[in-house]
Amino acid sequence: MCGIVGYIGNREAYPIILNGLKRLEYRGYDSAGVALYDGSDIQLSKTQGKVADLEKKVSKEISTKGTLGIGHTRWATHGVPNDINSHPHYSNSGDLVIIHNGIIENYAAIKKELSNRGYTFKSDTDTEVLVNLIEEIKKQHKVKLGKAVQIALNQVVGAYAIAVFDRKKPDEIVVAKLGSPLAIGIGDNEFFVASDATPFIEFTNNAIYLEDEEMAIVRRNKEVKVRKIKDDSLVDPYIQELKLNLEQIEKGGYEHFMLKEIYEQPSVIKDTYRGRLLAEQGIVKLGGLEDYIQKFTHADRIIIVACGTSWHAGLVAEYMFEDLARIPVEVEYASEFRYRNPIITEKDVVIAISQSGETADTLAAIKLAKEKGAFVYGVCNVVGSTISRETHSGTYTHAGPEIGVASTKAFTTQITVLMMIALRLAKEKGTLSQRDYMLHLNELSRIPGHVEEALRSDDKIQEIAAIFKDASNFLYLGRGYNFPVALEGALKLKEISYIHAEGYPAAEMKHGPIALIDEQMPVVVIAVNSNHYEKVVSNIEEIKARKGKIIAVVTEGDTTVKELADYIMEVPKTPETLTPLVTTIPLQLLSYHIAVLLGKNVDQPRNLAKSVTVE
Ligand code: AGP
Repeated sequence: MCGIVGYIGNREAYPIILNGLKRLEYRGYDSAGVALYDGSDIQLSKTQGKVADLEKKVSKEISTKGTLGIGHTRWATHGVPNDINSHPHYSNSGDLVIIHNGIIENYAAIKKELSNRGYTFKSDTDTEVLVNLIEEIKKQHKVKLGKAVQIALNQVVGAYAIAVFDRKKPDEIVVAKLGSPLAIGIGDNEFFVASDATPFIEFTNNAIYLEDEEMAIVRRNKEVKVRKIKDDSLVDPYIQELKLNLEQIEKGGYEHFMLKEIYEQPSVIKDTYRGRLLAEQGIVKLGGLEDYIQKFTHADRIIIVACGTSWHAGLVAEYMFEDLARIPVEVEYASEFRYRNPIITEKDVVIAISQSGETADTLAAIKLAKEKGAFVYGVCNVVGSTISRETHSGTYTHAGPEIGVASTKAFTTQITVLMMIALRLAKEKGTLSQRDYMLHLNELSRIPGHVEEALRSDDKIQEIAAIFKDASNFLYLGRGYNFPVALEGALKLKEISYIHAEGYPAAEMKHGPIALIDEQMPVVVIAVNSNHYEKVVSNIEEIKARKGKIIAVVTEGDTTVKELADYIMEVPKTPETLTPLVTTIPLQLLSYHIAVLLGKNVDQPRNLAKSVTVE
């Protein structure tokens, strides 16, 4: 996700835009840029790096005069972070300039058509394609900017929050929204447009939040006009009086970034499979994978290297790849793999999983695998990160910046990408019946709704957290696809509440851990619909017989475990292979609420860093 900001009014635009970008940096920070209208032409400056880098470049490069401007801080999705791919982007004529937060899925087809009409492109971005589509429509239909934007947006597929202006008509900014947020601040003869209210909250607390498929034209000293993109019909906008302070807005009104990111999961999982999971057509389309499919299908094995939560996602992938695509998988802690002189050949495929794309151990494991001739594929969240550049190819998770040190949306979006890879490989190898393949695609497309439903148990989970917040130890148990989720649940609790917790395969209890069970030991058991269900029920009975306290994650409507457990956390029914995407939700919330009740620093836990770039 990126940050966009714009201003039109009677004040100098640049200071407002620059300060606004600094406040929006939490939304993305790999490059930044600004375009100002100085009274006769557009002054544009942009750079890879942070807003502070932009500020330095602007001071050397352009005049900052003018009362109209737009600015952007980027979280790359298409095109690596560099000066050229930074926003704003000019149209070919230089008349139009645009900033964009989102993804235009059909940009390649549009780009081809525009190239055939003589358009050229400096960047690799979908955004530059959009501004030239608007320009072409403006020329062809001989219409004003607003109308051209409306026609263009009816031709694109994807998500966007855009702001665009025309140097030949510098008394308006046109904005539009679908899938990415866009707020309009209404001042006294001045307007602000931004991804959220942080850039303008000290100037006005009157704001319009555009709805999906709405656009608006903000004109100097005029009323704002809101229209429906579909049919250009006028909308009577609801003007909100904002009561949030700056920090509350950055966190989307949530108390912590971690909770915001837990609640973002339905929408970011959609972003992860947007344009890639075409369930109705029975297609999984992963750009980075298509050219290397044979490497995977002919591989002796897949070796997954990662750390922490990403390693847990790798363990889930082991079940998926072996179960669905019948490819042998080994999952390795990157820190162990890099030093144990592993046997690797050209017939191996290595998948490196990393949210930050900067984890030193994972990077070292990648280099070792490449030296030994393996093909290395990355699953990263940060476009242009070191790991994404070191791997031969890869797929980005598109989760947007994860600010909380404890990974949450990184985990579920990694699993979403890995499931799409497993399904694409299963399709290629014919190891799944067409029926099961289509079932998986359809069920995967329903996951955001299931996660929404799992989040609705938040209040109940908060009550459970209050009961167990003073425990000294926890056990987390799961089987099959949910054994890695048990490990992940234990890690979440450890790293933000500092309570010791261990994850185990449920069947392992009798090989030692059951000696730990007594009234003081809360045991979280993942007991959802699965092939192991009856076995897990037996494990629960073993724990109950020893007076352990049982908190069970169950499929909604479960009556058996409900009778046995002391507390239950319900999740919607999903195919076993997809259960990790929903069973992890109550575990995230349980650890979050315990940590908050204990007064811990949830977003920046002690001793931890968001990215471990050293050994
Ligand atoms: C998980 O909550 C932790 N933040 C940590 O274990 C993290 O998953 C690990 O350091 C790997 O980070 P990466 O995904 O950025 O490589």
